[in-house]
Amino acid sequence: MPVPIVDLHPYFSTVDEIDGVINWKSFFGNDHPVELDIGCGRGKFLFDSTVARPETNWLGVELDFSEGRRGAKRIAKRELPNGRVLGGDAREFLIKHVEPHSVEAAHVYFPDPWWKTRHKKRRLFTDEFADLLAKVVKHGGYVHSWSDVEEYFGIISALMNHHPEFEPLPPAPEPEGKDDTDYLTGFHRSRKQAGCSIYRGLWRRR
Ligand SMILES: C[S@@+](CC[C@H](N)C(=O)[O-])C[C@H]1O[C@@H](n2cnc3c(N)ncnc32)[C@H](O)[C@@H]1O
Repeated sequence: MPVPIVDLHPYFSTVDEIDGVINWKSFFGNDHPVELDIGCGRGKFLFDSTVARPETNWLGVELDFSEGRRGAKRIAKRELPNGRVLGGDAREFLIKHVEPHSVEAAHVYFPDPWWKTRHKKRRLFTDEFADLLAKVVKHGGYVHSWSDVEEYFGIISALMNHHPEFEPLPPAPEPEGKDDTDYLTGFHRSRKQAGCSIYRGLWRRR
């Protein structure tokens, strides 16, 4: 018999449930700044940030519902009011449901590289995606993106560095990786432990 799925509302809901443009104040119950973790995976960065910076509202968007629910469960267990996960396609979410210039920062960590040539069109970072980030991030807000894939990071940097609405900034130094708190995300941990170099980018919305 299938195991019934636990209702994790309001910590986990889906992009399909949102009607029109999201009202951040109603969604989080306050008007604190909002930061997005796009493709949040199991939500290590989302959970750690939700705990460490309670004055900010954190929203993860994750295509893979079971991964997204794992992060949401950790937030639900602590009943943290400033962390939420949405299951669904981040592009659709940004296009249909986010008011222009309403988010403080977008974090896109270790986006899937889709190695095979025939799959590369599935990559998240495209001209259109950079335009979407420019649409939703506030003037003076930030986009952070890290990757272990040099070639893909080259594309991300080229898209962002040459985008008229963004200016590149030096990213914060990479944590040393001595213990778990030094890893930013689950993928950061696994790629560092595998000995990979990490490429980091930070851009400010003009
Ligand atoms: C390599 S994982 C990285 C997860 C996490 N950011 C980390 O660093 O540990 C990439 C994640 O992006 C998600 N993803 C890919 N395309 C997406 C999309 N269009 N919308 C939302 N999530 C997406 C995948 O399901 C996957 O969980």
